[in-house]
Amino acid sequence: MEKKHILLLIFSFFVLNPIAGANDDCLPASCSSSDPEIRFPFRILGQQPDRCGFPGFDLSCDGQNQTILQLSSSLSYIVNSISYLEQVIYIDPEFCRPNRIVSVNVTETPFSYSNFFMQSYTFYNCSQNYSSMYPDVPFPCLSSGNHSVIAMLTGSVYPGYVPPNCKVMKSVVLPVRPNGDISVALELMWFTPYCKTCEREGKACELKTDDEQTICVSSRRKGISRSAKYGLGIGMSVLALICISGLACYVSSKVQGHNDSHNQSIDTSPVANIPQQPNSGTGLDGRTIESYPKTVFGESSQSPNVDATCVICLFDYKLKESLRTIPQCNHCFHAECIDEWLKLNKTCLVCAGTHRKVRHWLHLAVKHY
Ligand SMILES: *[C@@H]1O[C@H](CO)[C@@H](O)[C@H](O)[C@H]1NC(C)=O
Ligand SMILES: *[C@@H]1O[C@H](CO)[C@@H](O)[C@H](O)[C@H]1NC(C)=O
Ligand SMILES: *[C@@H]1O[C@H](CO)[C@@H](O)[C@H](O)[C@H]1NC(C)=O
Ligand SMILES: *[C@@H]1O[C@H](CO)[C@@H](O)[C@H](O)[C@H]1NC(C)=O
Ligand SMILES: *[C@@H]1O[C@H](CO)[C@@H](O)[C@H](O)[C@H]1NC(C)=O
Repeated sequence: MEKKHILLLIFSFFVLNPIAGANDDCLPASCSSSDPEIRFPFRILGQQPDRCGFPGFDLSCDGQNQTILQLSSSLSYIVNSISYLEQVIYIDPEFCRPNRIVSVNVTETPFSYSNFFMQSYTFYNCSQNYSSMYPDVPFPCLSSGNHSVIAMLTGSVYPGYVPPNCKVMKSVVLPVRPNGDISVALELMWFTPYCKTCEREGKACELKTDDEQTICVSSRRKGISRSAKYGLGIGMSVLALICISGLACYVSSKVQGHNDSHNQSIDTSPVANIPQQPNSGTGLDGRTIESYPKTVFGESSQSPNVDATCVICLFDYKLKESLRTIPQCNHCFHAECIDEWLKLNKTCLVCAGTHRKVRHWLHLAVKHY
């Protein structure tokens, strides 16, 4: 294996492994592929558990797979989009649906209007030949046959003004929109929970279990099941362990080579530095390691338990390479590979390859690159 491949694998380990620990039930969901992604503080009722959302942020899917926000017992709106970074949800005012010319009211919801200025708008039902000299918003969706429906700011001309050939339908109170076009999506903001920092860092926000505080966790990915993630995490850990071992072996054999020819200090190698770290007290001392039987591959026919490959670096043993055997279990490795391990661990890598130890070693080894 080439060194850059090894480093690439180590990199993927560190990028991929955090997902193994994420809170897997709260994966993002959506009502359909074209609908907004739903994640904390929102959740889809019946699809994502309670704790995946924040109180008051429940959404649902309707019969047409549209995302629905219920603002009051009688009023629900279709959600157009959600900006998690800006903490804004865009809802369709839906004036075109029957009996939907009503005021939006966000009191008793977690939301506020992004524009604090409210205005009264009046809807008019006009005959086709109406003429308005004042700005109006046409609603072709409500118009039919010989009648057009328009909306105008109430009292924009003078109180009680009705355009010629028009009849007043209804007045509603709405937040002012940028260009006065009340048919465009309505922006609702929320301030609590505050997740903008998490979002900016590409992390996910979630509810702490004990109170209503939020915390940032590593980002969740869609479409990988909990067990698959766990398996992937462990798989990557093992792969990374093997790779780092290989790299350690490779580097130390290089250093050994340098030593032989240039008489350089072994300390110049970052890998060789590991045993000098304060944490290294967990392993065996040099004298104990040296007391373990060492053989030269190919020279002794009685080399115990010699497999063709060193499980640490995954390179085949070659003639004249030094091997070391752990007497308690007779497992054999390249001497330079197992020596690095034993400086940090008292037990055989194969026998006691517990997750924690593997991780610990990995952590130490990687810190030095
Ligand atoms: C809604 O989505 C489900 C599955 O995603 C699909 O089977 C169903 O046909 C969709 N319904 C509509 C009205 O699009
Ligand atoms: C909104 O609803 C609250 C009660 O929930 C009410 O007191 C308030 O007057 C309503 N505001 C508007 C503009 O209708
Ligand atoms: C507008 O008025 C006409 C005639 O009065 C009526 O037929 C039509 O349904 C009205 N349109 C709306 C949207 O109320
Ligand atoms: C507009 O329609 C009304 C009846 O709805 C009619 O009396 C009037 O003459 C029409 N005006 C024009 C300019 O067509
Ligand atoms: C529109 O008005 C014209 C005459 O004023 C009438 O002939 C026509 O049937 C009307 N159309 C509809 C759809 O009501």
